[in-house]
Amino acid sequence: MKIFSFLALLFVCTAGKAQNYIVLHADQGKDTISKNIYGHFSEHLGHCIYGGLYVGENNKTIPNKDGVRLDVINALKKLKVPVLRWPGGCFADTYHWKDGIGPKSKRPSMLNVWWGNVKEDNSFGTNEFLNMCEEIGADAYLSGNVGSGTPHELTDWVKYTTHPNGSSPMTDLRLANGRKTPWKVGFWGLGNEAWGCGGNMTAEWYANVYKQYATFMTDWSNSDKLFRIASGASDDDYHWTEVLMRDIPAKMFDALGLHHYSVIDWSRKGSATAFTEKEYFITMQRSLQMEELVTKHSAIMDKYDPKKTKALAVDEWGGWYEVEPGTNEAFLFQQNTMRDAMIAGCNLNIFNNHCDRVKMANLAQIINVLQSVILTNDQKIILTPTYHVMEMYNVHQGAVMLPVSVISNDYVLGSEKLQAVWASASKNNAGLTHISMVNIDAGKAQDVLIDVQGARYKNISGRILKSDKLQNYNSFDKPETIVPVAFNDAKLEGNKIHVTLPPFSVLVLELN
Ligand code: AHR
Repeated sequence: MKIFSFLALLFVCTAGKAQNYIVLHADQGKDTISKNIYGHFSEHLGHCIYGGLYVGENNKTIPNKDGVRLDVINALKKLKVPVLRWPGGCFADTYHWKDGIGPKSKRPSMLNVWWGNVKEDNSFGTNEFLNMCEEIGADAYLSGNVGSGTPHELTDWVKYTTHPNGSSPMTDLRLANGRKTPWKVGFWGLGNEAWGCGGNMTAEWYANVYKQYATFMTDWSNSDKLFRIASGASDDDYHWTEVLMRDIPAKMFDALGLHHYSVIDWSRKGSATAFTEKEYFITMQRSLQMEELVTKHSAIMDKYDPKKTKALAVDEWGGWYEVEPGTNEAFLFQQNTMRDAMIAGCNLNIFNNHCDRVKMANLAQIINVLQSVILTNDQKIILTPTYHVMEMYNVHQGAVMLPVSVISNDYVLGSEKLQAVWASASKNNAGLTHISMVNIDAGKAQDVLIDVQGARYKNISGRILKSDKLQNYNSFDKPETIVPVAFNDAKLEGNKIHVTLPPFSVLVLELN
């Protein structure tokens, strides 16, 4: 009967082609959406750390707690950042953590060779990062130096941060540096982009190097239960995933990474704000490739791990454009428009729908670098459209994913087309159901009929993010040009919900 009504509606929808159709399978929830899908990434790159997160303990003009900006702390708490990756990125494989502990006046400086050869004075190091994570309530994801470090150095980092007091010279050092108890480090990365800036290794070579480093991080029985993430594939490098799954013993890892950026062309990335509809369309093509990448990498993992005990961690994703005119090219500072809201909304829906395998994702990067949720300029701060999408979607964190079947109109540009409407749904512990929807069509509103199967709802409310122009953004002068507003136009009748999504908008509905 259900199949019959679905097919009947499918016929009606595809024949008319005016209405989009979503079936919400409200009684088929099985997998939990890990809160860590809503994770972030912070690298020693441009003004992500210095000026972004951290302004120094002695800063008298920008209110801070232990040097971390208070406006940023408050915004990140509201966002419910579940996990933060640090210190890189490419920087991680040049970073020697012992340079960043102890009295600041004694910390050596280094050159940040990946990102503009600027001086890194190491004033923001392990203690500062882990204390900040505690302050904002995020789990720490430490990215270890495998490219130019040693297994010894990484083992010492594990001891310094997580082992009980009195168990080694490293824990004595921690105590001497003023930290009385171990921190909780939720996740350990073993290198970053080992196929590139992390050492230009082959998959086969990295698998061996990985095993060497992983061996010495724990005791012989692996009883330390560290969550270890292997440096994953770039985009559609399926060979990389195949080799790692085949060659690394299951007990030595918990997740594989995956990096995918929405970039038009690496040699011509285009402006972040002054872009054409064609450039927008190409960006979305690249971005929506995430669906295929996650599906295919997961299929390879399924062969070796059919019970899905290993996670896919998309630990770098987001839009990448030219830097803002007049800024340092190596600092990757870009503005953030409604195009970025589209990228965020669609990708988060994709991750939610693949939550049986995707257990973490880290948007690149949290502040002032690439697709940031926050931009700062001295005392000023902007919450970007991407911030607002992530905040609207945080209702999915830790909720049970409800499958959706989407029949969508096409977003057509010239001879090319993309699926216009993207969606995901979940039910949380409080019994509330949320459906997040995105219409990526730059010109057309989309009518959506939602057919609820397996539940009846009495109340409906929503929040929407929209704007008049795709290229609109929040500037330091007008920081609230784009903010979510209440959406009161959803019609609930029996088991049908009808909404109209304006062009390039993101809507989150709440049902009970
Ligand atoms: O996020 C910027 C850079 O992109 C990271 O350092 C690197 O891992 C990736 O190539």
